[in-house]
Order: sequence, then C-alpha cells, then structure tokens
Amino acid sequence: MANILTRTTNNVMDWVNARAPGMMPVYRKHMTEYYAPKNFNVWYYFGSLALLVLVNQILTGIFLTMHFKPSAAEAFSSVEYIMRDVEWGWLIRYMHSTGASLFFVVVYLHMFRGLMYGSYRKPRELVWLIGMLLYLVLMAEAFMGYVLPWGQMSFWGAKVIINLFGAIPVIGTGLTEWIMGDFIPSDATLNRFFALHVIALPLVLLLLVVLHLGALHEVGSNNPDGVDIKKGPKGNRWSPTAPADGIPFHPYYTVKDLVGVGFFLMLAAFIIFFAPTFGGWFLEHDNFTEANPLVTPEHIKPVWYFTPYYAMLRVVPSFLGSQIWGVLVMFGAIVLLFLVPWLDKSPVKSYRYRGWLSWVMMAVFVVSFLWLMKIGAGPGTDPVETIIGRILTFLYYAFFITMPLWTRMDRTKQVPERVTMHD
Ligand code: HEM
Repeated sequence: MANILTRTTNNVMDWVNARAPGMMPVYRKHMTEYYAPKNFNVWYYFGSLALLVLVNQILTGIFLTMHFKPSAAEAFSSVEYIMRDVEWGWLIRYMHSTGASLFFVVVYLHMFRGLMYGSYRKPRELVWLIGMLLYLVLMAEAFMGYVLPWGQMSFWGAKVIINLFGAIPVIGTGLTEWIMGDFIPSDATLNRFFALHVIALPLVLLLLVVLHLGALHEVGSNNPDGVDIKKGPKGNRWSPTAPADGIPFHPYYTVKDLVGVGFFLMLAAFIIFFAPTFGGWFLEHDNFTEANPLVTPEHIKPVWYFTPYYAMLRVVPSFLGSQIWGVLVMFGAIVLLFLVPWLDKSPVKSYRYRGWLSWVMMAVFVVSFLWLMKIGAGPGTDPVETIIGRILTFLYYAFFITMPLWTRMDRTKQVPERVTMHD
C-alpha cells in the first residue's frame, strides 16, 4: 500500500515537473534548502502561528460571510441568527472572534521576539518594515471587522475612531464624511467596511505575508544569539555550501512548529469552548446590544489590542479645543516602531549579550505598554490614572527617542563566534 502511494506521488511529481520545471526549485529554496539557525527557541513559534491564525480567519470568515447581512437594518440580527440557527454557526463565529484576539497576542509576541533578538537590524530592516505594514493593515482589518456585527460598541467605537480624523486641520471634517459616506456611521459605512474587511484588506495581508517571508528568505533568519550563521563555517551533512549551523527548514522546523501549533490549538479550544467572550476582553458586553445612535454606552473603548494607543489619545489634553495632539501622539507611537532599525546603535543584536541598561529600558517599555493597555481599557475618569498615563506615555516615547544614546552607553558582553545550544 505504502509502495503504491509513493509510486503514485512520484509519478504525479514527475508529471508536474515535466510541465512546470520552475516549481520544485521554489519549494526547495523556501523549505528543504532553506537553512535556518539550529538554535531557534519557543519565541520562534509565533511567526508560523500568525500564519495559522491568518488561515483560520480567512476560512471561518468565508463561512460567516455566507450568512451575514451587511446592512445596518439586518447585520445585528444576522449575527444572532448565525449564533442560534445556523448549524455550528456559534463555533464558526467564536473561532473568528477568538482568532482576532489571538492574532494580536501572537503578533505582539512575534514583534517582542524581534525586539529582543535585534531581528530588525541590518540586513533584516526590510523584513521589519514589511512586518510593521502587516501590523498596520491588521489593525485596520480588526477595526473594520469589529464594526460589522453592528452592536453598540461597533457603532460608537467606529464613531469615536473615525471622528479622530476630524482633528486634522482644514480637511478633517470632509475626510470623516468621506470615510463614513455619511455624517455618522451608517448603512453606507457598514457596506464599505464589509467590502474592505472581507476582500480588500485580506488580499493586502496575504501579499504582505509573501513579501515578508520573501524578504526574510533573501537574507536568512536571525536567531536568539543574534549571530549571523552565513558568516560562520560552511558545510553540514545536507550540503557542503550551506552554513554549518543551519538545518533545513523542512522537515526540522515544520515538525518543531507543529508542537507549537498543538499547544496553541489547545489554548484556543479552551477559550472558544469555555470563555469565548474572555470576560468581555475578546467580545465586549456592550456589543451584545444592537447599535443605537441615540443611546451612548457608559464607557466607549476599543478592544484590548488597541487600548495602549487609545490610552495615549485620552491622557493627552486637548489644546485650543483641538484633539490633534492626542491623535499625533497616538500615531507617533506606531511611527516610532517603524524607526527601531535606525534607532538601535548597539554593537550587538541580541539582548542575551546586552548589559543591564538595555534590560532596564526594555522593562520600562514593556511595563509602559501593558499599563497603558490597562488604563485604556478603563473608564478614563480617574485623574490620578490620567497623570500615570502621561508618565507612561512619556516613558514609552523615551524608550525610542533615547535609544541611540542608551544602546551606545550600554556595556555589552562578548558575542560567541557561532550560535550556542542550550540543553
Ligand atoms: C500577519 C502577521 C505576520 C505574519 C503571518 C508573520 C509571519 C512570519 C514568519 C512565518 C516568520 C518566520 C518565522 C519566524 O521567524 O518566526 C517571520 C519572521 C519575522 N517577522 Fe513576521 N509575521 C507577521 C507580522 C510581523 C510583524 C508585525 C513584525 C514586526 C514589526 C514582524 C517581524 C518579523 C521579523 C523581524 C522576522 C525575522 C525574525 C528573525 O529572523 O529572527 N512580523 N514572520
């Protein structure tokens, strides 16, 4: 039986190769002959997990689209219909809503890995920049998806966020009306967000993922030591010209990544089956009430993955009646992330070989980001919390702006010639 299977597979492959001889070399370049450093640790799971979640979002999204009605009159009840009457509809919807939050969990950990190991440094700046574009598009995709069920928070969240563009001088008001196609979020807004959410942005995401991996495979992966394996000795048991410390991506890392997938799916299943709203963090309570332009919810706030930026927006005071400063600080916080490859002047890439100063600064950054996340998720009415929010925003900015200084001042350790392996 196994023999017949192998023979059939070989015959099919020969048939394809005879007709499209360029296909196998591409597969080899990116899988069996892509030599990745042999010292990847758990932090390297999150790239493939991000891919897995992307596929989950697209597949579950296709089935949701079959039953969802993209109109202000019917959207909310069509989601209720999916939850109650469509066979397995509740599962598909919870897989999609949980997937959205887990996407950000995975992407934040993926980005943090990049920061820790200096994966954005030369020659991987382009990988980082394309990654940042992915992050931006992902935020737009999640924001528009959240508007679709047309609950209270969909409506009011959209209103608050789109109105931010109104703070831009001269063109602001015209721009917000252009985005919404109306003076408030309405049927026209829902229609266009649906089009962007189900087809336009997913296509952009897919294209960017291809470019992200294409750019990475041109230069090769970084690793927890931040040592370039291509510069080390050559020759291993797979190839005399490959880096000695590299192993073929397939089968070694495909199999290793499956372990991560196993753990991840267990976590995802637990949330989907036992805590799909995750205490209001993944699906907010206010969004189980239909959108009503006449009733404002008590606290308008975005989903957790946007709250650090939302907190910055809220704590910056308006000046001369304009919110523009808060808006600039919020967008600036994301722009700074784009610049990291040029702000970091450390002679070493990985934090493994950096001194205490870098570790302290990184801790300051992580604490500010997480604390701002908590503040942004709260009502925003406590004046003490507002002061704390301002200090944290300052520290977040200080981490990036002073990076050229502290990365130069830091006392680094000796970097090994070749990657190290820990038992
Ligand atoms: C949809 C979102 C994303 C997907 C599907 C994705 C996928 C991947 C995959 C599969 C890898 C190779 C495996 C690995 O190194 O973990 C990778 C590497 C990388 N990604 Fe992403 N990524 C995404 C978003 C991002 C973002 C937002 C950033 C940062 C701004 C980023 C920065 C990087 C970097 C620097 C590497 C190289 C890491 C190294 O070699 O050490 N990615 N990505």
